[in-house]
Amino acid sequence: MRFATRMERVQPSAIRELLRLGDDPTITSFGGGYPDPATFPVTALREAYEQVLTTSARTALQYTATVGLPQLRAQVAARLTADGAPTGSDDVLILQGAQQGLDFVAKLLLDPGDLVVTDNPTFLGALIAFNPYEPSYLGVPGDDEGMDTAALESELSRGARPRFVYVVPDFANPTGTTMSLARRRHLLELAARYDFLVLEDTPYRALRFAGEPVPTLRALDTAGRVVHLGSFSKILAPGLRLGWVAAAPELLEPLGLLKLAADTQTATLSMSVTARLLTDFDLDEHIAEIRERYGHKRDLMVKTMRETFPGEVSFTEPDGGLFTWVTFPEGFDAADFMARVALPQARVAYVPGATFYPVRQEANHARFSYSGVADDVMVDAVGRLGELLGAELSRR
Ligand SMILES: Cc1ncc(COP(=O)(O)O)c(C=O)c1O
Repeated sequence: MRFATRMERVQPSAIRELLRLGDDPTITSFGGGYPDPATFPVTALREAYEQVLTTSARTALQYTATVGLPQLRAQVAARLTADGAPTGSDDVLILQGAQQGLDFVAKLLLDPGDLVVTDNPTFLGALIAFNPYEPSYLGVPGDDEGMDTAALESELSRGARPRFVYVVPDFANPTGTTMSLARRRHLLELAARYDFLVLEDTPYRALRFAGEPVPTLRALDTAGRVVHLGSFSKILAPGLRLGWVAAAPELLEPLGLLKLAADTQTATLSMSVTARLLTDFDLDEHIAEIRERYGHKRDLMVKTMRETFPGEVSFTEPDGGLFTWVTFPEGFDAADFMARVALPQARVAYVPGATFYPVRQEANHARFSYSGVADDVMVDAVGRLGELLGAELSRR
């Protein structure tokens, strides 16, 4: 069968097989990027569905506007305004998850060969979304302040011309790091000087359990260069498939046309129920509970790693979100170790880090999620892994 050329860039991920082993109930998996299902507000959602289907079934089951249910757009706009970026309903397009925004922005901006800059490593789902538009990539390394914008500047001064720079500034997937205010400002300065857009992806932003919030790139932007993606997946439930994009009108309008072409609109029922939920239910209180839960999990994972992992293995200590990024010594292959030792002997899975690199893969990293594993199971599993890592590294 002959497919379009773009399909050459649409390939199953090499780690899928490895992660499938993580479905085995005898294996403790830190591999999933899913939120803890214990955080889903099931009772409140049941009531919201009941209310919506009792009082407004005819509209909730009907088609609605491509840009999204007006009430939900207003509610999202109010949340963005409260977070420091004055936003009106008209600045918001409701999406079927932030993932859809990654696709649309790439579809809007990229011709084959165009350059996209990302963190190095970056969110795999973004690379998967961008790939069909056949971009070239530049991965800019970072540290505990996020993307090294000085390194980006030197690439730009040597002629790199990105169409957009993609960042997850708050508690990034996969590293857990947060971009500092100075770097955010510098990135926007560079965007103006070199004429590119910034795609800001914020699904974890509300899940801060330590430190002080840093303004979003969109809040700092005065030139309409930021396309801001957000999501209800990690603060309500990913199964609702609800996210949003907020951007300047000249970007939001064509994004709306792509939305119409792709799926007409996001599911009216999901939007209606969520709008109802946001009226009747204290989302901020709910988020505070989620933050406490993940903060506890992060503390426990990092503490256990510190106690049981060999000294040459380092890991990030995120102030929010779901992930810590583990770095093994040079020459260590995290995928090989998982297949050969971690899975069969420790019965532990994680995501080998190589898959998160847009260009040159680095094998000596892994992403661990602390979101959904019970405390005692986590401590035991990290401890077992630490012991085997110690044995493996002492043999080298
Ligand atoms: C950084 C990042 N962006 C986007 C998404 C997609 O989120 P959504 O469920 O809203 O499509 C995820 C999901 O894990 C993510 O980690």
